[in-house]
Amino acid sequence: MNPNMSRRQLVRHTAWFGAAVGFSVVGGEVISHVAAAAERSHARPTLRFAQISDSHIGFTGAPNPDVTGTFGHAIEQVNNLGYTPDFVVHTGDLTHLSTPGQFDQVKQMMGALKTPQVFTVPGEHDSVDDTGQKYRNAFGVGSVGDGWYSFDIAGVHVIALVNTLNLRKLGHLGADQLDFVRKDVARLPSDTPIIVFSHIPLFAMYPNWGWGTDDAAQALSYLRRFSSVTCLNGHVHQLFSKTEGKVTFYSGTTTAYPLPRPGDGPAPKPVTLPAGKLRDALGIREVSYTPGETALALKERALQ
Ligand SMILES: [Fe+2]
Ligand SMILES: [Fe+2]
Repeated sequence: MNPNMSRRQLVRHTAWFGAAVGFSVVGGEVISHVAAAAERSHARPTLRFAQISDSHIGFTGAPNPDVTGTFGHAIEQVNNLGYTPDFVVHTGDLTHLSTPGQFDQVKQMMGALKTPQVFTVPGEHDSVDDTGQKYRNAFGVGSVGDGWYSFDIAGVHVIALVNTLNLRKLGHLGADQLDFVRKDVARLPSDTPIIVFSHIPLFAMYPNWGWGTDDAAQALSYLRRFSSVTCLNGHVHQLFSKTEGKVTFYSGTTTAYPLPRPGDGPAPKPVTLPAGKLRDALGIREVSYTPGETALALKERALQ
């Protein structure tokens, strides 16, 4: 190995020769290996967006005594990426307890995002007492059914799904939504890159804790013919990635508080980290699409 190779070059080198998708920490910045591979092409991305998740506005407790402050920092960080993201997506658990005040606050805070468009999907914390009615009143403009929707941007097709509506439907899409996905993609050529947003993972990350979607396989079956499918979710409050065929799943982190690793303990309870360590567990994600690249490029950034 070249002793002069910088750590960053080493990551790219490893990425180029390694087939696995994974994450490497370089100077506080987590770079997915697929991102490094995409950077090699020298082509320019035509779509760049940011993902934030699980702000849990209204949460109080030792794991994060100031979720409003950390969410505000995440928004500032998105506003200082050095470019204007084409959009920002919040992948759910915007609020902690779905109160009107919490929805007002999170909506007002996201109004400060410097981006042309903000997209959201609901988390189970956004539909604790009304199967998502207050969520849809605040964020459901342009959605269909119980809050799902899709759109096209820069040659990419984006599908936003709802798998959190109530306890009975937690980790569940349902027949209406599956039908929506089937019809939605029917017209698309198979080389259209697909991005799917959901709150709960569409892969079985840890079903014992509700970290999976029981009928996701049906939705994914409609996407199987596409050459590039990227699923971005929240809910698990930690980075994780998995590839199944042409579909890659990326769990995002949170701006509020960490949860345990899958199966680490009896239940996914908020974790209190040692003093000064919280921000390292929180963060934002940058995503870009470059024509000609099968994989999207992701950069995970810890909260500054
Ligand atoms: Fe959450
Ligand atoms: Fe959640």
